[in-house]
Amino acid sequence: MHPAIQNKKNQFKKVVIMFFSAASSTFGQTPEMDMTAYIDNAAILFFLLVLVIFVVLFLNLDKKGNEWGVAFKTAFRKLSNKLIDAAPVAKEEDILLDHDYDGIRELNNNLPPWWKYLFYATIIFAVVYLLDYHIIGSGKLQEAEYLEEVKLAELEKANMFGGKIVDENTARILTEASDLLAGQTTFNKLCSACHGTKGEGMVGPNLTDDYWIHGGGIKNVFLTIKNGVLEKGMISWKSQLTPAQMEEVGSYILSLRGTNPPNAKPPQGNLWSEKPDSLNVQ
Ligand code: HEC
Repeated sequence: MHPAIQNKKNQFKKVVIMFFSAASSTFGQTPEMDMTAYIDNAAILFFLLVLVIFVVLFLNLDKKGNEWGVAFKTAFRKLSNKLIDAAPVAKEEDILLDHDYDGIRELNNNLPPWWKYLFYATIIFAVVYLLDYHIIGSGKLQEAEYLEEVKLAELEKANMFGGKIVDENTARILTEASDLLAGQTTFNKLCSACHGTKGEGMVGPNLTDDYWIHGGGIKNVFLTIKNGVLEKGMISWKSQLTPAQMEEVGSYILSLRGTNPPNAKPPQGNLWSEKPDSLNVQ
C-alpha cells in the first residue's frame, strides 16, 4: 500500500478510536446510571453520527452535478469561510507582516470568528452561571450537592440498620432489658479490655461514677463512643458498631452508674450534674 494511503488509514483509525473513547466516557458514568440517562446519551451520539453522515453525503452530491448538492456545497463553503475568515492564498501578500525570522514570516490574519464566538459564548455562560449558582442560587454548588449526597447516604445507612436513625442528637437511654443485654454483650466483647469487665476502669476511665471527661448523659457518651478520643487511645467505633449498637452499649454503660465495682479507678474529669439532654461542645 502506498505510504500516503497507509497514513490516511491510520489517521482514520485514530479518529474512530477517539470517537469511541469519547462515547464510552459519556456512557460509563456510574455503573448504576439509570437507563434514561443512558438512552439520552445514546440518542445524542446517534443523532451526531447521522448528522455527520448527512453532511458528508451532501458535500459529495455535487460531484454528480446534482443542483441541491451544488447549492449545499456553496452554502457550506460560505459558512465555513465566514467562520474561519482566513485571507485567500492570493491575497496573503497584503497581510504579510514585515518581520522575517530567518526566512519565517507571519501572516496577520484575523482571529477566526468561530473561535471568537466560542469566547463570547464562554463569557455569556459565565454570567448565566454566576447568576444561577451564586446570585439567585437556583443551581446547587458542588459543596451543597456533596452534602445532599452525604445526607442521602446517611439515610440509606440508617435504613440498612432497620430504619433506626440514631446520632448524638437523637440518642436516648434505652431501658428495655433486651437492649441492655445487647449493650452488655458488646461491652464485654469490645470495651471491657480497657474499661474493666464491670466498667471499673483500667486503661480507660471508670464508667460507673459520676465523673466524665467528655460529658455524661447518653448524648455525650454516644458521641464519645462514635468518634473516640484517638489521641488518648479510645477507638472511634462508628465503623464497627451500628448507631443502634452504640446507643445500646451507651445505655448499658449508663446503667452501671453507682454500682461501685471493686478496684474502681478513681474519678476522672468533671462531676456530671444530670442534664440528660445537653450535648457537650467538644
Ligand atoms: C483500647 C482501649 C479502649 C477500648 C477498647 C475502649 N475504650 Fe473507651 N476509653 C479509652 C480511654 C483511654 C478513654 C479516655 C479518653 C480520654 O482520656 O480522653 C476512654 C473513654 C471512654 C468514654 C468516655 C469516658 C469519659 O469519662 O468521658 C466512654 C463513654 C468510652 N470510653 C466508652 C467505650 C466503649 C463503649 C467501648 C467499647 C465499644 C470502649 N470505650 C472501648 C480506652 C478504650
